[in-house]
Amino acid sequence: MNNCDKKIVIECRNLVKNYKIGTNTLEILKKLNFQAEQGSSISILGASGSGKTTLLNLLGMLEPPTDGELIIDGKNIQQLSAKEKSDYRNNKIGFIFQSYQLLNELNVLENIMLPALLKKSYKLKTVRQNAENLAEKVGLSHRLKHHPSEMSGGEQQRCAIARALINDPEIILADEPTGNLDKDTGNEILALFKQLQSEKSRTIITITHSDYVASLSDSTYILDNGVLYHQRTS
Ligand SMILES: Nc1ncnc2c1ncn2[C@@H]1O[C@H](COP(=O)(O)OP(=O)(O)O)[C@@H](O)[C@H]1O
Ligand SMILES: [Mg+2]
Repeated sequence: MNNCDKKIVIECRNLVKNYKIGTNTLEILKKLNFQAEQGSSISILGASGSGKTTLLNLLGMLEPPTDGELIIDGKNIQQLSAKEKSDYRNNKIGFIFQSYQLLNELNVLENIMLPALLKKSYKLKTVRQNAENLAEKVGLSHRLKHHPSEMSGGEQQRCAIARALINDPEIILADEPTGNLDKDTGNEILALFKQLQSEKSRTIITITHSDYVASLSDSTYILDNGVLYHQRTS
């Protein structure tokens, strides 16, 4: 595929996100424009509080924009019904939350399986096998029966990563996915991301504080005071 053929999978046009606190309006994202090509890896850097998680929540359709347009895979997401949005999110997007968002009532294996069990049809045996394979990939095979509260932050992070991958998403949105991992485990996860990107031309957007993590992606942006600046493309 040459550059002209690359499909744009995510596009933000003048995307705005405001929060109202009492009578004050906080402008978190200010007419942000951005495009992600299919199969690319993009890192977003920025100071704490600059709006990185807010941007990822918008891209993952977890929150609506205040204004502007968000187009994912050619669809303007504001035109989708709530049901279409949640199906789309569950099938197309793997979201790795900064705060993991695991369910403590479920063990590791069940947490990883859950998004696949929300689909209309599934084979339990296949889902279980896929979840076990993913647990192995993230180094959690020895913790399948543990509950989140019985695990370290790094183990919970790895469980959240495996869960994000269970529905074989085309787009992976990762909020500081290696923030709680030691260097070796972090490198294994980053290698897994590279593999996911290259094997099926998946698109990966990673929020990070690490210049090293950012340097491994195809391009880097910096979010500063609600404005997104392109820093580099390799
Ligand atoms: N639900 C919310 N209501 C009000 N303000 C919020 C909400 N979520 C985030 N903010 C504010 O938006 C700003 C950006 O937050 P966030 O996107 O989490 O930043 P980052 O991930 O870059 O650290 C912060 O000042 C935060 O306080
Ligand atoms: Mg954040």
